[in-house]
Amino acid sequence: MPPGQSTIAPEVDALFNFILYSAIVFFAIVVLTIVYFVIRYRRRGKEELTSGVTQNLKLEILWTAIPIILVVIVFFWGFRVYLKMYVSPKDAYEIKVTGQQWFWSFNYPNGASTVNDLVVPVGKPIRLLMSSKDVIHSFYVPDFRIKMDVLPNRYTGIWFEAPEVGEHNLFCAEYCGTSHSDMIGRVRVLGEYEFDQWIQEGAGAGEGVSPAEYGKQLYTSKACVTCHRIDGVPHTGPSFLGIYGEAQKMADGSSVTVDENYIRESILHPQAKIVAGFQPVMPTYQGLLDDRQIDALIAFIKSLKKE
Ligand code: CUA
Repeated sequence: MPPGQSTIAPEVDALFNFILYSAIVFFAIVVLTIVYFVIRYRRRGKEELTSGVTQNLKLEILWTAIPIILVVIVFFWGFRVYLKMYVSPKDAYEIKVTGQQWFWSFNYPNGASTVNDLVVPVGKPIRLLMSSKDVIHSFYVPDFRIKMDVLPNRYTGIWFEAPEVGEHNLFCAEYCGTSHSDMIGRVRVLGEYEFDQWIQEGAGAGEGVSPAEYGKQLYTSKACVTCHRIDGVPHTGPSFLGIYGEAQKMADGSSVTVDENYIRESILHPQAKIVAGFQPVMPTYQGLLDDRQIDALIAFIKSLKKE
């Protein structure tokens, strides 16, 4: 495992190492005993027979009691760490996490939101309130030693505190369909001042750049890039290159010209029109993008012209 980067990590590692090293010790005892017995009691000739041993009470008590003691220790130790991990402190900063095929979105208390990029302040307990829009996902940050299933129709929660500024990998640890392996992100731990700064700026993103340029940023930051390429090669969804103004064949046989209204509809109601040859797997971006951001994405798609 990578070095632990959360306050709970040393406790998880201590328990893990206890289990690992006791397993190694008992593995060695068992294997060495086998080797010793194989040599000591090997068959030497027809006359020499082993005496008939039926039982040994002392030995049986010993090999029952020792494993029970070990298992009970692991249980209580594990239960303690588990409770610590899942019961968040009262003053924790709460962020809403949504998993869906195939990206993560994060909603902050002040209304800011990010995709695949969880930004948190350093040295503060962070509580994650999680749910899924479709299938079961699993929120996993190896550096923090935390992992929790993210379910549809039910909230789950987990918390952590990162004592140092830095960046950490975030994975989905539950096979959730075609692009499961693309469901990756990062956790950025910022200094308290930088975090305040960042969260204030959240509302003003995209100012001072052209709509197409802002759309390009959103294309990556809102994870369109996971399914839609811009080089003409189809992926999970159609490529965006040169589609604007072109007629597209739909799955139901009809033909649709790609214009502003079609793009907007496809972002907010992805199931309304499915391009022939693709699966109806896109999630809705209703609530994840405001009108200005949708305009920017349209401007970006318009700008992608074939040479
Ligand atoms: Cu979501 Cu795997």
